[in-house]
Amino acid sequence: MVRIPERYGSKEEYVHDIFSSIAHRYDFLNTALSFNRDKHWRRFAVSRCGLKPGGKGLDVCCGTGMLALEMARVMGGKGEVVGLDFCENMLARGRENIARSPWGGIVRLVRGNAVDLPFPDHSFDCAVIGFALRNVPDIGKTIREMARVVRPGGRVVSLELSKPGAPVFKQAYYLYFNRIVPILGRLGIGRDGPYSYLPGSLKDFPHQSEIKKLFESEGLRGVCYHELTGGIVSVHEGTVK
Ligand SMILES: C[S@@+](CC[C@H](N)C(=O)[O-])C[C@H]1O[C@@H](n2cnc3c(N)ncnc32)[C@H](O)[C@@H]1O
Repeated sequence: MVRIPERYGSKEEYVHDIFSSIAHRYDFLNTALSFNRDKHWRRFAVSRCGLKPGGKGLDVCCGTGMLALEMARVMGGKGEVVGLDFCENMLARGRENIARSPWGGIVRLVRGNAVDLPFPDHSFDCAVIGFALRNVPDIGKTIREMARVVRPGGRVVSLELSKPGAPVFKQAYYLYFNRIVPILGRLGIGRDGPYSYLPGSLKDFPHQSEIKKLFESEGLRGVCYHELTGGIVSVHEGTVK
């Protein structure tokens, strides 16, 4: 269970503070702690978005913009990608990443909340969310908002940590994730806290089969999920009616 320190009024405030404090090390730690698998996972998630050159994609909870940039790469730099996040420090790192990327010219970052997207209905060809359904205050509302802003026939995709099932692999993974990652995270950012939040956030998060049901209950069609790297990560996809 995630225990929210008393000084925070809500999970949302706590999550905002965590990402404000780790933004400067986020990309490095992501790649290091995932043994560089994060790039492969993002590439796979974006491949499920059905984006084409000239299309329009939305990256919800974009953080430092890595999924948004992958969308822009897949579109060959033609079209438009919008990344949205509520944390200014993460967006600031995102702007630096965009400025360095050959595909950055079509990416725009905006500040906003995933549970109340500031976009009209049916305004994107697809919406993706990466490593963030675990963090939002209302998972169902976030999926509903993503489905609302995507045009009929377009995809809603989530890339998220999930719960591996294979016995020995599962035990080894949880030893790493629950015990070693918080220590490495503490070394990486020089203080305790943010990376101790990770294990609890996954424990609280529904199993991938339950997330599939949530996609379906928000009206998405053809919902399925793909377990990657032994199920430590899952990609869910559904099509807007
Ligand atoms: C683990 S990071 C993921 C960043 C990025 N999607 C990636 O693939 O690396 C989670 C991000 O979600 C953002 N976030 C969490 N709750 C949010 C909310 N309710 N609205 C907007 N952004 C939110 C955080 O600020 C953070 O940047």
